[in-house]
Amino acid sequence: MNEKKAVGEKAVEFLKEDIVVGLGTGSTVYYTLQLLGKLVQQGYSIKGIPTSSQTAKIATELNIPLTSFNEIDEIDIAIDGADEVSSSLELIKGGGGALLREKIVAKAAKKLIIVADSSKLVDWLGSFPLPVEIVPFGVEATKRHIQKLGINPEIRMVDGTPFITDNGNYILDCACPKILAPHEMEHDLNMIPGVVDNGLFIGMADMVITMDRNKEVIIMEREKQVTNTIHQ
Ligand code: A5P
Repeated sequence: MNEKKAVGEKAVEFLKEDIVVGLGTGSTVYYTLQLLGKLVQQGYSIKGIPTSSQTAKIATELNIPLTSFNEIDEIDIAIDGADEVSSSLELIKGGGGALLREKIVAKAAKKLIIVADSSKLVDWLGSFPLPVEIVPFGVEATKRHIQKLGINPEIRMVDGTPFITDNGNYILDCACPKILAPHEMEHDLNMIPGVVDNGLFIGMADMVITMDRNKEVIIMEREKQVTNTIHQ
């Protein structure tokens, strides 16, 4: 079974016509976009705000109408993937390097829906190296400050040169011990000059669509999470 396809497509059920949708980045949201593209072809009307140039390209190829923050004040629903999801719906994101635009879109959205296959579910955040977006100036100084937080940053490289984000920045992938206080870690990282933002999304996800051990789609909701894990 293709879990990414199942959860990615499921998210479309939570949309309505004539709303503004934040379009996330990655191989799970890819399936959300494909289904949205089919619906748009049949006359379904939404406007999307992409979180990366990669997603903008896919959405354009699928004829999904796009808009921008110049034209709208609020996003109704954002749908995005994640690299790790804790049982409290805390997230690590940014494996694809799009964390900054993803966080801007998530923050502007009335509701954030995360689509994540079951391999992303963790008891504690921190096994996946935490992506941190930094400006290229003063990289070594920024890394030293990050090391003082007890984590080990490595510049993300592609073909021997630093990976460049859509915003012209670098990504540091940071090996962390178990992240026991994610909110503090998110804050402490963002206080370092040179750090633009980091991949901890704390208190942002309203709903996570994932799969259980029996390969059934389940919905975890923030407000009622423990009591309200719904089998679909
Ligand atoms: C992009 O920067 C990330 O935050 C992705 O949303 C995340 O890596 C999930 O990607 P997949 O859906 O490809 O696993």
